[in-house]
Amino acid sequence: MKHAPTTYPVHDLIRKRWSPRAFASYPVAPETLNQVFEAASWAASAMNEQPWRYVYAHHADTEAFQKMVDCLLPGNQPWARHAPVLVLALAKTDLGNGTPNGAALHDLGMANANLMLEATALGLHGHFMGGFDRDKARQAFQLPENLQPVVMLALGYLGEAEQLEEPFLSREKAPRQRNPLADFTFHTQLPS
Ligand SMILES: Cc1cc2nc3c(=O)[nH]c(=O)nc-3n(C[C@H](O)[C@H](O)[C@H](O)COP(=O)(O)O)c2cc1C
Repeated sequence: MKHAPTTYPVHDLIRKRWSPRAFASYPVAPETLNQVFEAASWAASAMNEQPWRYVYAHHADTEAFQKMVDCLLPGNQPWARHAPVLVLALAKTDLGNGTPNGAALHDLGMANANLMLEATALGLHGHFMGGFDRDKARQAFQLPENLQPVVMLALGYLGEAEQLEEPFLSREKAPRQRNPLADFTFHTQLPS
């Protein structure tokens, strides 16, 4: 566990969420996964468009799971291929009337945050990955033009750090850090 060493007290779920690379091999029950996706669905979204879409595969879905693994870049494949579930998160970038939805990426992020906090509450861990080949994902999952592949996610129960080889082992054990509030919050105006 790598609970966030916060300066101010924050909700336990926020403290507990972190992005491991070592996952236990046991599966995530379909019911549990649905709970996690249900949480995603209750995120706010512009005009209640709900522009998030998720394609997922359990480890046991051999063919689809391998397609997901093949989309990942080499820095993610060695550890993420052991995750019990891989998810491809997509943003629907147009509105019903065909005009662009400028909030699609924002709203997918909102849904992803909900998803991850619910997962944390259920004892799961997740690790988002921007390191994947978007063109490959488009082809592999036959995505229409208006669905943008944004991020992938490895999801499951926490494993032992010692399962990992370097450089992943060191990253798993590295302390967590954040910028201080003064670096990104500004009372009334930005500094000149
Ligand atoms: C959009 C996004 C893309 C990311 N891409 C990768 C990735 O390709 N590989 C990786 O190991 N971690 C990736 N991460 C995980 C971040 O490195 C991690 O969230 C960050 O270092 C903070 O650590 P924490 O999640 O444990 O608090 C990504 C996270 C996000 C939100």
